Amino acid sequence: MKKIVLVGQNGQVSSYLQRVLNGDYELEVLSREQLDLSQVDSIQAVLEASAPSLIINPAAFTAVDLAEERQQEAMTINRDAVAEIAAFCTKSQTPLIHFSTDYVFAGDANEPYSETDATGPNGVYGQSKLEGEQAILAANAPAIILRTSWVYSNRGKNFYKTMLNLSSTRDELSVVADQVGAPTYAGSIADATKKIAERILEQGGLDEEQFGVYHFTCQGQTSWAEFAKAIFVENEVNTVTVNGISTEEYPTPAKRPAFSVLNGDKLSRVFGVSLPHWGTALAHCAAETKTR
Ligand SMILES: NC(=O)c1ccc[n+]([C@@H]2O[C@H](COP(=O)([O-])OP(=O)(O)OC[C@H]3O[C@@H](n4cnc5c(N)ncnc54)[C@H](OP(=O)(O)O)[C@@H]3O)[C@@H](O)[C@H]2O)c1
Repeated sequence: MKKIVLVGQNGQVSSYLQRVLNGDYELEVLSREQLDLSQVDSIQAVLEASAPSLIINPAAFTAVDLAEERQQEAMTINRDAVAEIAAFCTKSQTPLIHFSTDYVFAGDANEPYSETDATGPNGVYGQSKLEGEQAILAANAPAIILRTSWVYSNRGKNFYKTMLNLSSTRDELSVVADQVGAPTYAGSIADATKKIAERILEQGGLDEEQFGVYHFTCQGQTSWAEFAKAIFVENEVNTVTVNGISTEEYPTPAKRPAFSVLNGDKLSRVFGVSLPHWGTALAHCAAETKTR
């Protein structure tokens, strides 16, 4: 059985990946205790001891606002640790699936970004993730970098759970209406990642022309305010009024891109994989919420 090493244990994407990969593969999940990405000098030795056929890395410093304060930590985990993983992958020719973000873009476009569009992060988190991508590419690692966006699920800290939690105490919510993106369910990420992993393992690694960056989000686009309304509809919450507000009315330490929709054509062309429409994925997530 081929061995997949998954970096990070309790994250949203990691949790859903564990559900879909367990049983079909020998799966080794490296917790923070086993592989602390802030201890960069130990990374290559840990991976070498694991001897994986494929590494999947959804671990990251993901606290976007906190990254403005803890710049060094964000850079260590999102750039320096990724450079070490990439160095191991290049040396051992182990394929890598790594995750990145729509926040590598400035957000001033008015049509979906493609992989070749210029980046321009607004904050430390986006910059650190971009530098992680660049480290992988500079190492010429046998890797694909999946840029996703607005990740939510029934686990961890995310907008979906925040909205549902607030609905138990509030009957009116102000939500930003002028940022547009693609909400992406961690369950959809896991399903699509599994298909790509299967392909990579079947073909015995990645071909050099497959290396690089891919946009990897649910289809369609919406604003946070419209997403909030859809969350309430899907969960049959009809006691909350959502009022759309502007970004200026909801200041955050890190600036967010106003528009961060990503064009996923390359992923479907190269791997024959696409994620569902965000509304379809939301219905799946809500169905899961109801079974909890
Ligand atoms: N969340 C979003 O909205 C979003 C949007 C776009 C892109 N992304 C990208 O998608 C990927 C997955 O995101 P997610 O939402 O699943 O993230 P998440 O829920 O915040 O999970 C982060 C994971 O990283 C691990 N981690 C953090 N610091 C670590 C360290 N020092 N050593 C080892 N592990 C460490 C955590 O470990 P523990 O298991 O110990 O908690 C956790 O498993 C990330 O690359 C992220 O940048 C996320």
